[in-house]
Amino acid sequence: MNDRQDLAGKRLVLGLAGGVACYKAAELLRLLVKAGARVQVVMTDAAQQFITPMTMQALSGEPVLTSQWDVREPNAMAHINLTRHADAVLVAPASADLLAQLAQGRAAELLGLVCLARPLARCALLLAPAMNREMWAHPATQRNAAQVVSDGAVLLGPSSGAQACGEIGDGRMLEPEELLEDVIAFLSPKPLAGERVLITAGPTFEAIDPVRGLTNRSSGKMGFALARAAREAGADVTLVAGPVHLPTPRGVTRIDVQSAQEMLAAVLPRAALHGIFIATAAVADWRPARLAEHKIKKGGKKQPPVFELTENADILAIVAALPEPPYCVGFAAESEHLAVHARTKLERKKLPLVVGNLGPATFGRDDNALLLVDAHGEQTLPAGGGTADKLTLARALVAEIARRRVERGGT
Ligand code: CTP
Repeated sequence: MNDRQDLAGKRLVLGLAGGVACYKAAELLRLLVKAGARVQVVMTDAAQQFITPMTMQALSGEPVLTSQWDVREPNAMAHINLTRHADAVLVAPASADLLAQLAQGRAAELLGLVCLARPLARCALLLAPAMNREMWAHPATQRNAAQVVSDGAVLLGPSSGAQACGEIGDGRMLEPEELLEDVIAFLSPKPLAGERVLITAGPTFEAIDPVRGLTNRSSGKMGFALARAAREAGADVTLVAGPVHLPTPRGVTRIDVQSAQEMLAAVLPRAALHGIFIATAAVADWRPARLAEHKIKKGGKKQPPVFELTENADILAIVAALPEPPYCVGFAAESEHLAVHARTKLERKKLPLVVGNLGPATFGRDDNALLLVDAHGEQTLPAGGGTADKLTLARALVAEIARRRVERGGT
């Protein structure tokens, strides 16, 4: 974890309807506050059967509202006051009953009233359903969910898995970290709305025999951060990942590959369907010319084996040479002379933008510094020099790519 304030300056209303998932709402609140949001909590009567307002008050630092008849509000209009300055109302958990209330515009409880009284154009309604799988699958709930979505609400989840009742299926509330990621994405500017972005990430693994291979120290973190940042910016993102153990960013389509040949096979048919291609993968330049069918045994041999290598295709150069290539961004991981090598790659692979970084200083780390090299000159990220965490850099880079796309007459 780092102390990035992804929700600094944002104001949220966090609504809790009744459900056992209320226990996760406390952790969600903690994450929202830690990310810099100011959060006002509203709880239904049913929610208070599962968790107390005391807990939520302690975590939010604000009085928790539970009734529209609360005389503490000076103008006695909590339902109006709450959403006039809020960026969004997030209901987590949103029970089947709450969805039914919202679908009908009912306002018998403060939470329904707040959702109904919010300014539709300015204050989004995000709902994280949580209920038993039969309740979620019931035609009445599905009808209500479709209705609230057509009325402008956004559903976050539900996900699938083991439920508190012991059954397994759809209806689990998303985990607090997943909800946080979705809320941040929802509230982010959308310079890549309608854009499709294809990204390669991580190392490749070039097999020698069934148990050994050639690979490198790329962690994939920068590519995964870029996938998340592009999705936050509104793009439809496909991530072709070499062998790494990183969680897939929310809302991103992931294709796992091992070798450079597999990566090329995943990228090539998709490249022309995307407006932007970002090649962050540390693709192995060579692979063993022959793959041994069985493990190569030491056996008592005196001489170590000698491997012949053959060159891998340059995925980025192939995509950049397509008749109608996407906007191609290359990465240059170097150990010295960053600007010179990055510009050589820009020209050799005929790219509009190359992003340089010092490989040994960045592999596996959370922080990095980037040098953007294009036909006009050079630019460092972070702008003032120094280093920044990879997600912060990824967001800044995505903004730069979006700006250049607009200048070139893209979307
Ligand atoms: N790249 C690629 N396919 C390859 C090799 C590289 O798509 N077979 C991409 C990388 O994803 C990166 C860029 O090309 O965006 C530069 O990769 P790098 O390995 O730094 O450069 P090379 O072209 O391999 O040149 P060199 O090894 O001389 O540094």
